Amino acid sequence: MKNRTTHYASSITGFKKGIFISLEGIEGTGKTKQSSLLNEYLKNIGYKVILTAEPGGTVIGLKIRDLLLSIENKKMTPLSELLLYNASRVQHIKEVILPALKKGFIVITDRFIDSTKAYQGYGRGIDLKLIDLLGEIVTEGLKPDLTILLDLDVKIGLKRNKGINKKDRLELEDIKFHKKVREGYLKIAAKEPERIKLIDANQSIEDIHKKIIDIVMNIITQKLI
Ligand code: TMP
Repeated sequence: MKNRTTHYASSITGFKKGIFISLEGIEGTGKTKQSSLLNEYLKNIGYKVILTAEPGGTVIGLKIRDLLLSIENKKMTPLSELLLYNASRVQHIKEVILPALKKGFIVITDRFIDSTKAYQGYGRGIDLKLIDLLGEIVTEGLKPDLTILLDLDVKIGLKRNKGINKKDRLELEDIKFHKKVREGYLKIAAKEPERIKLIDANQSIEDIHKKIIDIVMNIITQKLI
């Protein structure tokens, strides 16, 4: 079926019609692959979908992404890092996410606010209250309707990424940092079981895709008026 439209009005933003989905997880969980498979699946059955990612998603966001991930920027302080991720997010929300949601699109983003809490909060140790406060200002209360958290053993994830030669400033952090990030994600998920659905990422791409489809179609059915 083609040209289906979503008509979900969020209680938080009031005006938004679309559905907002984020994919989260530590390095090497296959978020990017799964985001792209989900995008293709939903488009093929007729939904209007936008696939995007953080940090990035806009011209300014991509420049900020370069600053954040360049291995040359070893001197970047945790606070600068926190502010830059949030700066990228403001542009992303204003330029891409909100306009698409207002038009009734399903927006899929590869990472959003939970990444900041997991990496800068639990990973770097920045006060979670400060992260939440900044998050409120930046998002003006916009939260994903659904977050898929792909969970994986840290060693497996980092090994997978080594296999594809992926190297950036965050990935070069030691294993302890990544373990804190994973634990952080699990704590965040435990606090919001309604929004955040956990999937074991130590399965085949197809099996993970099927699980994501089940969860997403369930949400779409619930949100459709
Ligand atoms: P990725 O898009 O290739 O996963 O790389 C983005 C990196 O940035 C990844 O290591 C996670 C990290 N990150 C944060 O530390 N905080 C954030 O808020 C976001 C969006 C990403």
